[in-house]
Amino acid sequence: MSQYNRPMTSDLSGRLLSWYARHQRALPWRATRDPYQVWVSEVMLQQTQVETVLPYYQRWLRLFPTIEALAAAEPQAVLAAWEGLGYYSRARHLLRAAQQVAVEYGGALPRTVAALRALPGIGRYTAGAIASIAFGLDAAVLDGNVKRVLARVFDFRADVKSPAGERQLWALAESLVPPGRAGDYNQALMDLGAAICTPRAPACLLCPLRDLCAAYRLGVQRERPVTPARPARPQRVQAAGVVRKRERVLIVQRPPEALLGGLWAFPEAVCPAEAQAGRKADARHGACLRAALRADCGLKVRIGSRMLTMQHAFTHFRLTLHVFDCRWQAGRLRRAGRLRRWVRVQELVQYPMGKLDRKIAEALLADEKRGLLRDDRPGTKGGG
Ligand code: ADE
Repeated sequence: MSQYNRPMTSDLSGRLLSWYARHQRALPWRATRDPYQVWVSEVMLQQTQVETVLPYYQRWLRLFPTIEALAAAEPQAVLAAWEGLGYYSRARHLLRAAQQVAVEYGGALPRTVAALRALPGIGRYTAGAIASIAFGLDAAVLDGNVKRVLARVFDFRADVKSPAGERQLWALAESLVPPGRAGDYNQALMDLGAAICTPRAPACLLCPLRDLCAAYRLGVQRERPVTPARPARPQRVQAAGVVRKRERVLIVQRPPEALLGGLWAFPEAVCPAEAQAGRKADARHGACLRAALRADCGLKVRIGSRMLTMQHAFTHFRLTLHVFDCRWQAGRLRRAGRLRRWVRVQELVQYPMGKLDRKIAEALLADEKRGLLRDDRPGTKGGG
């Protein structure tokens, strides 16, 4: 049984294309057909809004203007250029894929959907976007925005995240691609999803597809797409330590395949969640951190006061991070150098980090600057 209402669709691509001709956003990756630039934009735009991507995209192309330049780059430089965009596996995959393209295809992206999909970090959506936008192939795309538009126009009643729902929507998306115009058509769908057919308050009165839209006709546009209830994200509590030894602090590199893999961090430990915040909870979190520093790094550390507490929502859990001021007491760093380093606070900018670790680093730098300013005042040490 069909899960959707198929309205008159002969007009759908024509309407979208003429709407796009008048209303498309002027975006830098639309001023080029360079497959590398289109590829970079599509990877950055996975899970990330256009406004956030824009400065990263421009800077990335200055740093790595070609596939060869990217293929030859240091992994740390690549992660540093991605810092703040999140979902860091995208950067690691881009680098690996560029290296593969340099070796296997002489530095030019392959021109078929199947060969694109065989590269790290390129799934069905991204392959379809590159193939249609850069190579003019008749390939479809289906991401969250496109799913929402199709689910509404066709009053699609199945769960759009289920395997069966996805299969049907891909088949539908493919059946709608206008031959020879897939690049513009796909981007029109993306723009419509971003600007008009928005999740909570779609601007149906401005929509070029309104009189084709089954959900609008039935008044159910806010109930489409159908998605499963999201389970509440579990809460995780961690303690991180600013471990000081003379003028340096300890940072560790996260393993490549871990969350935030390859980025640098202040050492941390997962703790049992405490119902009550306060001194007792601080003592238990501190003990947890001390044990982890001993077991993981081979260091004996004195835990001082809690400096700050931060919250962050990751895709699969919510994190509360308590940060403790700590002092090294004894022990030599295990696996020092590549994975663990004592660095000066001013050097922390050179190490790519996730959002929370960067906030800690910035707080330390601000503290240090305040200290220096105090020391510079006339009549104090080093001053006047
Ligand atoms: N989201 C994903 N790809 C996009 C594109 N090419 N233009 C605008 N938004 C997008």
